[in-house]
Amino acid sequence: MMRNAFNVLGVAGSIRQGSYSTRALKIALEYAKKQGAEVRLLELNRLVLPLYDPGAPASKEVEHATEAIAWADAFILASPDYHGSISGALKNFLDYFYEEFAGKVFGYIVASHEKGLTVMEQMRTAVRQCYGWSMPYGVSINGPQDFTRDEIGNTKLSNRLRMMARDLVVYGTLLRDQFIRDFGSTEPDTFAAYYRP
Ligand SMILES: Cc1cc2nc3c(=O)[nH]c(=O)nc-3n(C[C@H](O)[C@H](O)[C@H](O)COP(=O)(O)O)c2cc1C
Repeated sequence: MMRNAFNVLGVAGSIRQGSYSTRALKIALEYAKKQGAEVRLLELNRLVLPLYDPGAPASKEVEHATEAIAWADAFILASPDYHGSISGALKNFLDYFYEEFAGKVFGYIVASHEKGLTVMEQMRTAVRQCYGWSMPYGVSINGPQDFTRDEIGNTKLSNRLRMMARDLVVYGTLLRDQFIRDFGSTEPDTFAAYYRP
């Protein structure tokens, strides 16, 4: 079965008011919308998930996140660079999910005073472990240099966010549709076969 709408979920991993990574994420989601995608945003400072405990019953916040993840075909994860690592809030969010990410495509935004490459790698590692696809590049921002209030002052950065949103929707649609075909077929040697009931 083919689905037409392409659903992109942004996950904002900074708790900080005025977060640069969240601002960049909102801009990327607007670009994705212009590409015809449906978009939603989970802000982890509004949707506060308990520290992951595999034995705990799902809270209503976790149920909300689970529903949003099932809805999404693709994700944009946004994180601050904390000690060269992703934020605890984003790691905690990722810990809740595994098979839900399989076959889905992920784009990455990092707010850092450096390039945030180690942060980007950590997001890629987590997604790879869950059999998600990662975009071949990410977007790194240096908030105080790149932003003037809510506007991006750096044209190269806004072009890169637009490119990422475009590529996420275009390549993500191809990968999503192939995954659906493989999942629905009887061909045994595909990774989608693993997720059949
Ligand atoms: C606890 C802490 C650790 C940080 N560690 C780093 C770091 O290792 N490298 C870096 O470039 N910036 C580091 N920063 C700066 C943040 O990455 C930067 O302020 C970023 O804009 C935060 O993201 P946000 O604006 O989305 O909240 C750190 C900030 C905090 C509060």
